[in-house]
Amino acid sequence: MVRSVITGTGRYVPPRVVSNAELAGLMDTSDEWIRTRTGIIERRFADEGVSSSDLGLEAARRAIEDAGLQPSDMDLIIFATLSPDHHFPGSGCYLQAKLGVPPIGCLDVRNQCTGFLYSLSVADAFIRSGVYKNILVVGAEVHSSALDMTDRGRDIAVLFGDGAGAAVVSACKEDGRGIIHSELHADGRFARALYMDVWDISRKPFMGHESVDSGEIYPKMDGKTVFKHAVTNMIQLFQHTLEVTGTNPADIKYVIPHQANMRINQAIAERLGIPEEKFLHNIQRYANTTAASIPILLDETRRSGKIEKGDLILLIAFGSGFTWASTLLRW
Ligand code: UT7
Repeated sequence: MVRSVITGTGRYVPPRVVSNAELAGLMDTSDEWIRTRTGIIERRFADEGVSSSDLGLEAARRAIEDAGLQPSDMDLIIFATLSPDHHFPGSGCYLQAKLGVPPIGCLDVRNQCTGFLYSLSVADAFIRSGVYKNILVVGAEVHSSALDMTDRGRDIAVLFGDGAGAAVVSACKEDGRGIIHSELHADGRFARALYMDVWDISRKPFMGHESVDSGEIYPKMDGKTVFKHAVTNMIQLFQHTLEVTGTNPADIKYVIPHQANMRINQAIAERLGIPEEKFLHNIQRYANTTAASIPILLDETRRSGKIEKGDLILLIAFGSGFTWASTLLRW
């Protein structure tokens, strides 16, 4: 039976480090507030002129090299982002041109914090059905251009950072390895608990000068609602994923969760009785990089030598939509 195996991973974050203290110079916040509420110490911001596909390109090159393949070996690109280069076309098309691999198919997935896991599930379906052999899955975000760096935007601006992660998903016939189970969920009734007003295509024209002045160009969030639903839904999803796959929690080597808030993940780990060292974090250094957070953390963990062939890994995420998703895989 053909299974989907991650054969390479890569990450890239822009070089500019932005500390909590630097943000405190721009808005009414403090290092202490940010650290204690979220665990974040610093994040990376891309320079002017750098787009999500630029960050994705670097991560993709590293993942393809790690897989021992060439860009020309890729059969499809799936690009997850909530900060696409442009309204259209999708960032996957820009990345494809930069990688020099026309005319392979490109698919953008606009699923925010679960974008990478939704993308993995699509890649898995294509691979298992025999359509493709190697699929490049990228999660990349440039949030820094769309954050309100004033007191008005402080509840959101301190939470996000820029970065990219990528994985090559390949067909494999080795018994027992690969993606075992993917689970996707959404509840659109909560779409406006974390969203961006611009652009509103029902308006004619869909945006104007007032969109900038009123702050519509920045994301809005009901933080407490997001926090509560993130904890509840990820606990249920974790338990369901284990139940349907007949997995014992003790057999999971690492949980690689989306990095939205260290307190969310700590609350989940505690409620599930998972030791903290198995529930991985890097939000301290990158903040929330949305679709990029899981592939960045996966790549860091792998390259530090912690993941070995045969390890059982659970990827899990919750975010805007609301959407939530999990992927159980054997490395
Ligand atoms: O990828 C998914 C995306 N997002 C999330 O998962 C976020 C989920 N939510 C959260 O992580 C938390 O709700 C936050 C970290 C965003 C906020 O924590 P909170 O404990 O829910 O704080 P709050 O919104 O209730 O605000 C508490 C106080 C308020 O002041 P008052 O009304 O008590 O005087 C805020 O105005 O903190 C104030 N505040 C800030 N103070 C300093 C809000 N943002 C800031 C800030 N610095 N950056």
